[in-house]
Amino acid sequence: MIVAERLVKEFRLAEREPGLLGSLRTLFTREYRVVRAVDDVSFEIPAGTKTAYIGANGAGKSTTIKMLTGIMTPTSGRCLVAGLEPYRHRQRNARAIGVVFGQRSQLWWDLSVPDSFRILRRIYDIPEPVYRRNLTLFRDLLDIDALGTTPVRQLSLGQRMRAEIAASLLHDPAVLFWDEPTIGLDMVLKDAVRQLVNRAHRELGTTVVLTSHDIADIAAICDDALVVDHGRVVHQGTLTDLLRTADHRSVVFDHRDGTAPETARQRIEAGLPGVRATPDDRGRIRVDYPTGRYTSREVLAFLLDRFDLADWYAPEPGLEDVLRKIYGRSRTPGTAHEGAA
Ligand SMILES: Nc1ncnc2c1ncn2[C@@H]1O[C@H](COP(=O)(O)OP(=O)(O)OP(=O)(O)O)[C@@H](O)[C@H]1O
Ligand SMILES: [Mg+2]
Repeated sequence: MIVAERLVKEFRLAEREPGLLGSLRTLFTREYRVVRAVDDVSFEIPAGTKTAYIGANGAGKSTTIKMLTGIMTPTSGRCLVAGLEPYRHRQRNARAIGVVFGQRSQLWWDLSVPDSFRILRRIYDIPEPVYRRNLTLFRDLLDIDALGTTPVRQLSLGQRMRAEIAASLLHDPAVLFWDEPTIGLDMVLKDAVRQLVNRAHRELGTTVVLTSHDIADIAAICDDALVVDHGRVVHQGTLTDLLRTADHRSVVFDHRDGTAPETARQRIEAGLPGVRATPDDRGRIRVDYPTGRYTSREVLAFLLDRFDLADWYAPEPGLEDVLRKIYGRSRTPGTAHEGAA
């Protein structure tokens, strides 16, 4: 179980004055700007769940994960991972967690991947059968042998990410904190990574906390979602519940009555004010309707009445649409709390 209680993280940034003289002056001034990256965040993530930590750039995701993994100490509030405050018990916490930061390597820069794994094996005291089972998995799914004995610093981004992911799973941790684990990976590898994490969850009951800007990763891995915006939690629940917050739904249909696409579009939009109809070049028409105004039954009844429907379906509301709405709201400046310290 992962708990955050009124978690706050502030960064103090020296106010820079422009120009060389300004930078020099900055060294001596005491003017600071306080950036509140995580702003009174509380949540509970039950053990054995797979949660997407979702938010726009700069929303405070990585900062929160740094506190949960013990890399950073909160300014106030606290968090608990399996009963421990991670930043107070970094060693003990490290055994329980597997960490990937796509933006920053967790590996030893000058060592090769096999050497790093041998060291990790000793640090975590990994039993022989576990170590061997996991290496076999990483060979099959991440083609880890192909990385050879090249030092990590010389690996490409995608090669390094394969090693990072493997390293985070090597000791069968109870919790995985994966912050952008698939950057730089091609489709085949992304798929392999999704398989690895879902397998760990299924077979070992691993708790997963994932951030990714690739919505397909989230959909393929997570059941739950925590959405943060400007350092605050704006949604916590299942991914399905999040999708229900969509303010538009759609119906896509084919018809066989020969109505020209443009005529069909006008007929729908005139008959159902507030609705948008978009014909595609294959003659299919997508109808987007606001859920506050129409039910799917009303929209369908209208279409059945006006067209000779050949086929229709109602696509799932996309996570992308929902997030665009949330992120769109957040494109206003304002959580940077100004102040002198
Ligand atoms: N070490 C730091 N010093 C000063 N400010 C920081 C530091 N780390 C993060 N910030 C600021 O805190 C805010 C949140 O950053 P964070 O990296 O947690 O965002 P994020 O949600 O992970 O974004 P992204 O999706 O781009 O990775 C940003 O405004 C960022 O500039
Ligand atoms: Mg981040």
